[in-house]
Amino acid sequence: MAENWDEHAINWDRDDHVRFYADQAFASLIVHVNIQDDEWRTRRILDFGCGTGLLSERLAPLVADVVAIDTSQSMIEVLDRKEIGNVTTICADIDDPAVRIDATWFSEFDLVVASSVCGFLPDYEATLGVLAQPLNEGGFFAQWDWLAPDDEPGMTVSRIAHAFDAVDLIPVHIGQAFSVTFDGDEMPVVMGVARHRR
Ligand SMILES: C[S@@+](CC[C@H](N)C(=O)[O-])C[C@H]1O[C@@H](n2cnc3c(N)ncnc32)[C@H](O)[C@@H]1O
Repeated sequence: MAENWDEHAINWDRDDHVRFYADQAFASLIVHVNIQDDEWRTRRILDFGCGTGLLSERLAPLVADVVAIDTSQSMIEVLDRKEIGNVTTICADIDDPAVRIDATWFSEFDLVVASSVCGFLPDYEATLGVLAQPLNEGGFFAQWDWLAPDDEPGMTVSRIAHAFDAVDLIPVHIGQAFSVTFDGDEMPVVMGVARHRR
């Protein structure tokens, strides 16, 4: 059954695991993308499946604009209440062509991030193709997801590699980035970073 993300919105930021995940995602991102360099101050980021904007919050001070999109109205409302000046929120499904056609926001991104989203999508491979479209040449895509064992459904290193290849994204790094501990059990998180072909 599909997750009802609206129900999670109000307490999302109070969850230590969720905040730890966002901190680790950011820490792993800066290893592969030089987003803290001054040259990024004029650049644009798309935060896909932004939730309450825990990653947007960390990225926004470093760039010109962040567009944060999520299908959950309640998640977007929490992010809106944070009133981050250079974050524009959109509550919509990016897979719906009507949302993108003629949309001025759907272009010229230097980085698209998807933190703990792709593993929940009904068709990750198709949505990745959509997310690659508005990237500038040489722009980055980065995703983080629970890592599934190789022989089980879910997000694996090989699945990410195949998906990148299918949409002409050049892999920069695909592998375990960190893990989150729940009641003594470690849940590994896989990170995939790729670049739009120049
Ligand atoms: C596990 S939460 C992660 C939220 C946020 N990225 C974070 O790390 O805190 C997954 C989010 O993805 C969003 N989501 C799921 N499917 C989506 C879709 N097709 N388009 C946009 N957002 C989606 C959900 O509404 C939810 O806010």
